[in-house]
Amino acid sequence: TAACFDRGLLTGKTVFITAGPTREPLDPVRYISNHSSGKMGYALAEAAQDAGATVKLISGPVNLPAPERIERVSVQSADDMLTASLSGLEQCDIFIAAAAVADYRPTAISEHKIKKGSEEIMELHLVKNPDIVATVATHDHKPYTVGFAAETQDVLSYARGKLERKHLDMIIANDVSRSDIGFNSDENAVTVVTSGSEQELPQASKRQLAGQLIEKIAQSYHLTR
Ligand code: CTP
Ligand code: CA
Repeated sequence: TAACFDRGLLTGKTVFITAGPTREPLDPVRYISNHSSGKMGYALAEAAQDAGATVKLISGPVNLPAPERIERVSVQSADDMLTASLSGLEQCDIFIAAAAVADYRPTAISEHKIKKGSEEIMELHLVKNPDIVATVATHDHKPYTVGFAAETQDVLSYARGKLERKHLDMIIANDVSRSDIGFNSDENAVTVVTSGSEQELPQASKRQLAGQLIEKIAQSYHLTR
């Protein structure tokens, strides 16, 4: 089968994968986050390992067991995820950013639980988080860098914008306006975009899709190195 044939496509290569949401604390008991399940990132980690890679899975808080024989680094905030992503980056050949990183975090973390005031309206002040994949892609030692773009409209044009702005080698675009697939589902359908190509991968389980994506990523990686 194709899967057997492809075994070894990433032998000797090190792949870093970010997965899941981040949690941005407000106070000791509260945080800002999102509904990312981490399933796509975890499926990619398994597929990369099946292809022979050494995988570091940098994971936000998810309800998934650590895949067997894969190094998992558990993180909470975007800042933690950035630190874990930059640590050992010199050894990284391919970086895949599947995490749903919170775009903003509270400007300050309250030391104590924030009390409910008498005002009806409460304002939160947020500050932009670092862009992890863009930081990796502009690093002295730039691995082959892959991002995801979850969009609800103009999917391909936004994805192309991110590919260029973040200096990525590939971006995997998906339409999250469809409630049947994507964010929290077991299935997904994506378009693989590079500066010179565009290819649709039809709806499939995240596990099947992960195998196809790792194959595409490995082929493109070998072509550009
Ligand atoms: N990403 C990242 N660090 C961030 C934000 C995003 O590494 N602080 C990565 C994601 O993991 C994904 C890609 O960038 O691979 C695109 O994420 P997305 O949220 O779609 O893009 P943004 O640049 O945050 O733009 P927006 O949310 O406004 O669409
Ligand atoms: Ca975002």
